[in-house]
Amino acid sequence: MPNLSPAPATTLSPSPSSTVAPSPTPTAAPADATSLISGDAEYRHVLALADDIGSRTAGSEAEAAAADYIAGQLASYGYDATLEPFEMNLYVEPESTLEVLSPEPVSLEPRALHLSAAGDVTGELAAAGLGRPQDFPPEGMTHRVALLERGELNFSDKVANAAAAGAVAVIVYNNEEGAFRGDLDQQSAIPAVGISQADGQRLLGLLAEGPVTVLLSVQGGGPQTDTSRNVVARPPDGHCEEVVGAHYDSVEAGPGANDNASGVGVLLETARVLAASGDDEGVCFVAFGAEEVGLFGSRSFVDGLNADERAALRGMVNVDMVGVGDQWQLFGSEELVAEVDAEAASLGLDPVPAEAPTGLSSDYRSFMDADIPAVLIHRVDDPRYHSSEDRAQFVKPQALQEAAELTLLTLRLLGQP
Ligand code: BES
Ligand code: ZN
Repeated sequence: MPNLSPAPATTLSPSPSSTVAPSPTPTAAPADATSLISGDAEYRHVLALADDIGSRTAGSEAEAAAADYIAGQLASYGYDATLEPFEMNLYVEPESTLEVLSPEPVSLEPRALHLSAAGDVTGELAAAGLGRPQDFPPEGMTHRVALLERGELNFSDKVANAAAAGAVAVIVYNNEEGAFRGDLDQQSAIPAVGISQADGQRLLGLLAEGPVTVLLSVQGGGPQTDTSRNVVARPPDGHCEEVVGAHYDSVEAGPGANDNASGVGVLLETARVLAASGDDEGVCFVAFGAEEVGLFGSRSFVDGLNADERAALRGMVNVDMVGVGDQWQLFGSEELVAEVDAEAASLGLDPVPAEAPTGLSSDYRSFMDADIPAVLIHRVDDPRYHSSEDRAQFVKPQALQEAAELTLLTLRLLGQP
């Protein structure tokens, strides 16, 4: 990047009277931002977030501690960093248990259907096929627990039909191998759970021998409201022309070193080098909370922009999972992705063209949904994604270094001076 800032006057020799300008003293001027990037500094942020703080689930104390760490770092580079809280509506899965009481005690592993009613129910089990109205016995299901096969009807219809027949609870067994968690369209009148195909076969086997009594319990969980926060560093005039964004929360399973302490390390280092080189004009840095539970932080940030702010925002760079794997991949707005892709060669990098990963999402989506150009910088593939093994030891400082270079490149392509 060209250095546009004048060198401090005190370090220059007096101007000669000739029209030829003196060549600037190289050491006197702030350095080019890219040359200041340190992959090791980025890695230290990964250690601080993943090793020292650990798993940072949305709304947790650890997430709040991570926000404080990030705000502290941004402040140390001279930014005015603020914590911007937001509410999130979460659905917490209830605890559920299923015990066969007779003819012999058996414990099964049910999962409550999403939006199941809570309750403890004891009753005689009765199989009723797929749960269509004609599948229920003519004498009805009063005081009975319906055992239904998954398939053909949606879960809400199965449960409503069973309740209409008088059933006190519903157990749906899978129509393929393994367990599952089904969704109801709305809160059911009676508790409803899913079990694996094998557990379903087991219950059917017991029923073939005679009456079976079960105790089904669905407790706790349900809709909950919690608070998280974004950490935002804005330029002195408060307006963002570009946003660098990375989520700092993690899943519960592990310390989220690659997903996404790596992206936060890159965000912090980008903020540091732009401040040091004086090239931070118009750039906002936003560390998002609560990404893993539904992109709440980025949605809240985008929702908080007024029409003028939205119009002034030229684009967003999302850094997510950038420390593991061997290959750069870019997703997002077609034009911007193509530009970054083409220019990456100047850094000696060659990202592979990519379709948006099916079923996977990150904060750039919130910006694209608001028609703000956005690109996700990402590295493939992480075999420890969302696991307890997503640890700092697998994150490569060199990859973090390159991610910061790609981030600065993208900011320049978005028009940042
Ligand atoms: N970093 C991941 C998304 C990701 C994974 C992007 C692999 C590209 C390649 C992100 O943190 C994540 O897991 N997001 C959730 C978000 C959802 C709950 C809205 C996802 O995609 O399941
Ligand atoms: Zn992520």
